[in-house]
Amino acid sequence: MSLFQTEYGYFSAEGNEYVITRHDTPMPWINVISNGDYGLVVSQVGSGYSWRTHASMNRLTRWEQDLVRDRWGKYLYLRDAETGEFWSATWHPCAGKLQDYRVRHGWGYSVFEARHGAIVSTLTMFVPLEDPCEVWLLRLRNDGTSPRRLQVFSYLEWLLGTAPDWHREFRRLFIETRYQPDAGALLATSVMWDIPGRGRAHWNTDWEYVAFHSASVPPAGFDGDKRAFLGRYRDLDAPQAVVEGRSFHTQGRWGDAIGSLQVVVEVPPGESVELAFVLGAGNDTAHAISLAQKYRHLPSVHQSLVQVQAFWKDLLGGLRVDTPDEAVNLMANGWLAYQAVACRLWARTAYYQTGGAYGYRDQLQDSLVWLLLGQPERTLEQIRLHASHQYQDGTVLHWWHPIAEQGLPSSYSDDLLWLPFVVLYYVQETGDLACLEETIPFFDGGSATLLEHCLRAFEKALSRRSERGLPLILQADWNDGLNAVGIEGRGESVWMAHFLHYLLTRWAQLPALDEPTRSRFQREAEALREAVNRYGWDGRWYWRATTDSGRVIGSVQNEQGRIFLNAQTWAVLSDTAPADRAEQAMQSVREHLYTDYGALLLAPAYRTPDPEIGYLSRYAPGTRENGGVYSHAACWAVLAERKLHGVDSAYHLWRSFCPPVRGMEPERYAAEPYVMPGNVDGPDSPTEGKGGWTWYTGSAAWYLRALVDGVLGVIATSDGLRVEAELPDGWKQYRIQRRFRSATYDITVRYAEPGESPGCLVDGELWDGDILPVFEPGTTHWVDIVLRSDRRDTRDSEACSKSEAV
Ligand code: GLC
Repeated sequence: MSLFQTEYGYFSAEGNEYVITRHDTPMPWINVISNGDYGLVVSQVGSGYSWRTHASMNRLTRWEQDLVRDRWGKYLYLRDAETGEFWSATWHPCAGKLQDYRVRHGWGYSVFEARHGAIVSTLTMFVPLEDPCEVWLLRLRNDGTSPRRLQVFSYLEWLLGTAPDWHREFRRLFIETRYQPDAGALLATSVMWDIPGRGRAHWNTDWEYVAFHSASVPPAGFDGDKRAFLGRYRDLDAPQAVVEGRSFHTQGRWGDAIGSLQVVVEVPPGESVELAFVLGAGNDTAHAISLAQKYRHLPSVHQSLVQVQAFWKDLLGGLRVDTPDEAVNLMANGWLAYQAVACRLWARTAYYQTGGAYGYRDQLQDSLVWLLLGQPERTLEQIRLHASHQYQDGTVLHWWHPIAEQGLPSSYSDDLLWLPFVVLYYVQETGDLACLEETIPFFDGGSATLLEHCLRAFEKALSRRSERGLPLILQADWNDGLNAVGIEGRGESVWMAHFLHYLLTRWAQLPALDEPTRSRFQREAEALREAVNRYGWDGRWYWRATTDSGRVIGSVQNEQGRIFLNAQTWAVLSDTAPADRAEQAMQSVREHLYTDYGALLLAPAYRTPDPEIGYLSRYAPGTRENGGVYSHAACWAVLAERKLHGVDSAYHLWRSFCPPVRGMEPERYAAEPYVMPGNVDGPDSPTEGKGGWTWYTGSAAWYLRALVDGVLGVIATSDGLRVEAELPDGWKQYRIQRRFRSATYDITVRYAEPGESPGCLVDGELWDGDILPVFEPGTTHWVDIVLRSDRRDTRDSEACSKSEAV
């Protein structure tokens, strides 16, 4: 059975692989594979790059961002030693020579299957769980009747440092390659690393690792120099070495450093052979050689692959969902969490955006995904990491580079508040108030409890308000592109008023606060609510911001950017809006911002750059934050819909931007159907409905949250797990297995059978309350929620009733 099949591919029956059936997908359809330290990205044509720890500062291989040609990568060439015919194991670089080409992207690995005449190749790429390297496991099968002697040439270009390699003639002079015959490995080092804060002066420090490229079979040849391997003025589709079938054994300091190994294998008719190539970055030479040796043994390679697959299956299995909607099941049972963990938290890079740094607000929000997977201690780790990138005055780094430990001090108004935001979610999930007492250092010295870190963030945020009592937007808020609105320190953010109000009111309920702080939070929240309703209401919706010069943004008075999504959805989520305004604001959202492919971030798009707004207004109209569907924010709209209008509206909106569903129109949608896109082009773009900026988007974790909390209605609260049991139109039941406080809740929500009475059974006993009991860690419990058959009445169901959604 194949799911969501189009002419480009389908999901495997189990849902854990996306199978691409042709090379020419509308855009590169990639996989992001990482173990939290080492990582690679690879596209359906076999292109991509590799790194260790930081995808931009510690890139191993060269790659250029060209999503049209997509021709930078690490490749394997196959050559018939008798006839001289050659091809590649992936579509690139020898395009056009393969039959039956198929790519399977899975969790932690990608497989490239192809046939060239009688030779069938299967190339599996993966990153072992514990080691800083990647393995390319190649199986060659001879379906012909005569024995074949095949030469396999690998090829990659060393970067060994900070990407992009914008000045290769300079950079190549520091790199040295060296063939180590006893290890069958090519080593590569560099004596220059363009990284801040190292060495006596800039460009005056060594690259601190030893890269290696090795094979499971003793190589018959190698090359470390690009000119030797490619030949003069030749290209990757027909390198001299491959055409001539020989390596030139180049190495040293004077070439343009590449890594190529040549391995020769005999494949008898009807049989297969297997070999592996490895690429990695050891801490030093001994480490590099030991890794090369470890993965020389094919049984170790296989074992390592099995471990990777088991790891992801187990981790992603922390949440199970079974609904009548296959798209929901596919996204919830693996792909969204895989995207959030492998790409957002671990790799922090992809194709549309190459990165490596931590964004203060970004990875904190992403780390909420661990809560849904039943691994809250990993959220706490992320909290600690970000808390230690806060200054004593409560401000934080907008982003910072691991390895270099350098970053950009933030004057964005919201950044610092994401710490208390995620702490709140963590505490609701775990009940672990003790974490607030943990001492964590500040970035500029000294330390304080986590509670104090959060309180300082609040203090700072509260101190940055206008005379009217609205938060100043400063450098920008969540919406980075509003980066000119308030740089002089006068512009205000209406969204920030909602957001801060949300946090203050929720925090005021935490038992960890002392009485004076609690009442202060309540007072400040009330003041914000009044201010935003007095000054921020435009008649039919809330403004988004005011500029330094006092202009209003997101108002009916504006021709461009008349209404913004976040200012409405967060008015609902944070309860700043009185009921009539909440209803009116969301009606306006429906009227102006909903499309059949998601909720636009604003409308109409800016057609002319507005120097008082920032780069948001400079994007091509209809793209990204300038009037596209910005998936991250659209997830919040799902939660607001649930809160205001119930499950049908929430589910309808959620599904409208669901990748497998949208992917059924591949020419229009273009993006991968198995991961979230950061954005979808809006009506002001000629490519309306086109998805882009896939993988590296904070929407992955939020889309899962919008589903679990907003559609399935299973919500962690300080008192326990609450189920707002409602079934969307057309659903007869759903089931969700979710961990909470270390116990597993196996929840079914369904309509009553004829004669059955509605109610909530927990382990077979009637449970009369809207919050489920908290259980012993490690135990599993069955929750059976039976709704009245007439769905219109379900909200009256006495047990497990509905209250707020966020
Ligand atoms: C980007 C940023 C994120 C920001 C969002 C909206 O995704 O990484 O921090 O909130 O854009 O502007």
